[in-house]
Amino acid sequence: MYKLIAFDAYGTLFDVYSISQLAEEFFPGNGQALALMWRDRQIEYTRLVTMSDPNPSGSKHYLPFWDITILSLRYVCQRMALVLTPEYEKHLMDQYAKLTPFEDSLNVLKTIKEQGKFTAILSNGSKEMLATVVQSGGLTPYLDQLLTVEEVRLFKTAPQVYELLLKAFPVQKKEILFISSNAWDALAAKWFGVDVFWVNRLGHPFEEIGERPNYEGSSLSEIVSIL
Ligand code: LAC
Repeated sequence: MYKLIAFDAYGTLFDVYSISQLAEEFFPGNGQALALMWRDRQIEYTRLVTMSDPNPSGSKHYLPFWDITILSLRYVCQRMALVLTPEYEKHLMDQYAKLTPFEDSLNVLKTIKEQGKFTAILSNGSKEMLATVVQSGGLTPYLDQLLTVEEVRLFKTAPQVYELLLKAFPVQKKEILFISSNAWDALAAKWFGVDVFWVNRLGHPFEEIGERPNYEGSSLSEIVSIL
């Protein structure tokens, strides 16, 4: 019944917290906390930019996700009183550019393509940033489109972002399955009106507000059984 399977990128197809190991090398004892706070601050900045000027033609505060990622890293290091040298920053951002896919990402995408469905990424990431991470992870042949917020200059969870799926593919809302490991992203897509699969690898509770996801699983592989 689904014609388009669309994936969130960071944390869903690509392991965001894999950078905590590198952060741990630079800042012993602080790697995991830094990675978590970095991610939180990055998402916080996207929301700040979007909500402070939720103009349908884009927020005047818009910055590419790459820049937001660097700036949130700088903030978090200051907040944690860690000295972020230019070399550390470069290494951490290089690592971010080449995050590894989760072990089942490739096979799941391959299986979906074999079923003749459309596949896409829908992400806050900048176009170049996404192209690099998709390429280095070997996922390029299995993704029809990389859709990014760059066009709308608003970040998730603005509905204009989820609307990109309808603009890019000849499908209706009910023919789309959106997959995210971020509960807030899954909820926003559900509110937008598409079915969602929430990848809950860590056994976290879903958000307390809004609707439940249509499907939930502990890995991406579980998607295959519902298609
Ligand atoms: C993304 C972030 C939210 O890829 O994970 O859009």
